[in-house]
Amino acid sequence: GDTITVADLAQKLAMKGGDVVKALFKMGVMATINQVIDHDTAVLVTEELGHKAVRASDADAETALLAHVEEVQGEKKPRPPVVTIMGHVDHGKTSLLDHIRRTRVAAGEAGGITQHIGAYHVTTPKGVISFLDTPGHAAFSAMRARGAKVTDIVVLVVAADDGVKPQTAEAIQHAKAAGVPIVVAVNKVDKSDADPLRVKNELLTYDVVAEEFGGDVQVAEVSAKTGQGIDDLLDKILLQAEVLDLRAVADGRATGTVLESALDKGRGPVATVLVQQGVLRRGDYMVCGVQYGRVRALFNESGQQVQEAGPSIPVQVLGLSGVPEAGDDFVVVEDERLAKDVAQQRDAKRRESRLVAQAGNRMEDVLAQM
Ligand code: GTP
Ligand code: MG
Repeated sequence: GDTITVADLAQKLAMKGGDVVKALFKMGVMATINQVIDHDTAVLVTEELGHKAVRASDADAETALLAHVEEVQGEKKPRPPVVTIMGHVDHGKTSLLDHIRRTRVAAGEAGGITQHIGAYHVTTPKGVISFLDTPGHAAFSAMRARGAKVTDIVVLVVAADDGVKPQTAEAIQHAKAAGVPIVVAVNKVDKSDADPLRVKNELLTYDVVAEEFGGDVQVAEVSAKTGQGIDDLLDKILLQAEVLDLRAVADGRATGTVLESALDKGRGPVATVLVQQGVLRRGDYMVCGVQYGRVRALFNESGQQVQEAGPSIPVQVLGLSGVPEAGDDFVVVEDERLAKDVAQQRDAKRRESRLVAQAGNRMEDVLAQM
């Protein structure tokens, strides 16, 4: 319920409780100091008292949201790892993802159009792995810059016929800066000029020390062309995940991060999200960045409707009020009111900071012309 006591409202307004009671009385509302009034009445009396739309402050709504999230409890259970593939241009990132996807993601319904979503999960005999299908250092950095931590493990793809290149080194730096462990996939081992040992030697320079050299980095030798070694790579990813002891709240209201989003002509705003805690279900209310809404439908990576998605599982969400941004968080809340309040306050805040930034720019323009 969205209510407040007269006393609490008075405190927020830095006024005497009696004055608020009087103002309420003038409005025709008989209330004592300890009485609870509803949201609309609180707004009306606040305005009556000459405060402009003070409602709850931004902090209050966010605090309410946090408290809401903290209620989600329950035991933490092991969850699948979330993997991002990185590496130098043309070393085979897309081919590797495609091979895994083609051979290990269950196809959609016959005749159904498989929607491409920016992430998918595979089920191996030893466990589930989620892949973020957005290879690219820029995407990784952008997510990090926005404070979103979605990747547990980086798979570093290095072509066995080409060796360590500038973007390989860059990927290593990104992974290290983020504190994310690396599993190396030495790719293209089917090629006649493949030299995996050379790759492992070159990686030493970057402090990426393969297990066979006494280090703790697992290396799989693979071919995205023939499929050789891919099971071994998946095993190694799962082994790394075990070491990390990845856990999440298995039940309860979901929280997570937006991976990508778009405005679909027919379906409206569509967001691909990664569930990180709890279970996201059809019919849930959620705040998602500055957007909110009720989950109208959920789709998996094969374009099939699903009822729910648990930790580490990527899923497409329909039903939001607008298009959120990649890196935005989402939080499932019990009631629509809270979802709406938080989203609107965030939106107002975001606009405000943009206005301030614009004003700042204008000021600089003016100064520059003086
Ligand atoms: P960018 O997205 O441009 O950075 O490249 P990428 O890393 O995604 O590489 P991509 O998968 O596009 O592969 C580049 C080329 O290498 C393509 O021509 C692939 O067919 C080829 N290729 C990828 N993996 C293998 C492999 O294991 N063996 C062989 N022989 N060729 C491969
Ligand atoms: Mg590619």
